Amino acid sequence: KAVVQWLRRGIASAGMLAPHLQKSMRDYLHLNRHHVAYRGLRRGRQSRRDVLCELKEQARLRTLDGTEQPFYGLGWDRLVPPRPLEQLWGQGSKFKSCAVVTSAGAILNSSLGGEIDSHEAVLRFNAAPTEGYENDVGNKTTIRIINSQILARPRHRFNTSSLYKGMTLVAWDPAPYSVDLLRWYGNPDYDLFTPYEERRRLHPTQPFYVLHPKFIWQLWDVIQGNTQENIQPNPPSSGFIGIVLMMSLCEEVHVYEYIPSLRQTDLCHYHEHHYDAACTLGAYHPLLFEKLLVQRMNSASQHDLKTKGKVTLSGFNAEGG
Ligand code: C5P
Repeated sequence: KAVVQWLRRGIASAGMLAPHLQKSMRDYLHLNRHHVAYRGLRRGRQSRRDVLCELKEQARLRTLDGTEQPFYGLGWDRLVPPRPLEQLWGQGSKFKSCAVVTSAGAILNSSLGGEIDSHEAVLRFNAAPTEGYENDVGNKTTIRIINSQILARPRHRFNTSSLYKGMTLVAWDPAPYSVDLLRWYGNPDYDLFTPYEERRRLHPTQPFYVLHPKFIWQLWDVIQGNTQENIQPNPPSSGFIGIVLMMSLCEEVHVYEYIPSLRQTDLCHYHEHHYDAACTLGAYHPLLFEKLLVQRMNSASQHDLKTKGKVTLSGFNAEGG
């Protein structure tokens, strides 16, 4: 597909998408479910360094710490892990080199497993398994980002599945753009609050955090602020959230099959027989624009991008920025 070739070079736009994807974009813009009211700039292409600086300044990694209502009243200051996520692996440099493994079908037959596991920390998403796919995706998992559907929908068996054991968990759910926590608590997309409380009580030693919705919408603002057209008024994908999370924890971040390699396919996930181009290019999430922004920050070669689907980003604590 032509749009992916342009994406690899950083010059794609919504007009290049298939008509049905353009239509769902327009529908989401109309619907504006999360009541987004953006008042910031819409910049043209900024340099790699400027985008990195902006992201570092504007999007501060933040998790619920139980000090705000309604969470304070519910005793969450004692429920959340005692150590903040940013300090879980010590102060300062943290991880030298990290991998972010997206769940895209294009990672099948990549034989990237060894390279992925060679990084100090590995981030995976939602229900993406390693068992049976080790050669392509590796088997180390340091952090797993999960959306609220994973916690709330019975088919994921969140409390019993081994997919969610033995790693740090980070959950998220879209709140209103205004970040009204009371309203969010009363009406989340999927109820993540009850299963979160339950798991904290059952497994108090497993580090498990909920991202602050402020962080999610700050990320959205940076994406819109670097895009001249209107992006979908919905939260960024778990993929983008995970990439920025790792940029906060690592000196260098290697992202696999976010911007597709030449293995590019409509197969949505490497572990499911479901074909849909929206998984790679976006319908609900502003995925195309997230990917353009990540492309702008990439310091790896076009060769790495084409053969491995690999992007390399410097973390927020690396020199410069
Ligand atoms: O579908 P899911 O959100 O679990 O996938 C994890 C992340 O991987 C997505 O949020 C998206 O950023 C990325 N992804 C992708 N292309 C795909 C499937 C997933 O870029 N085909």
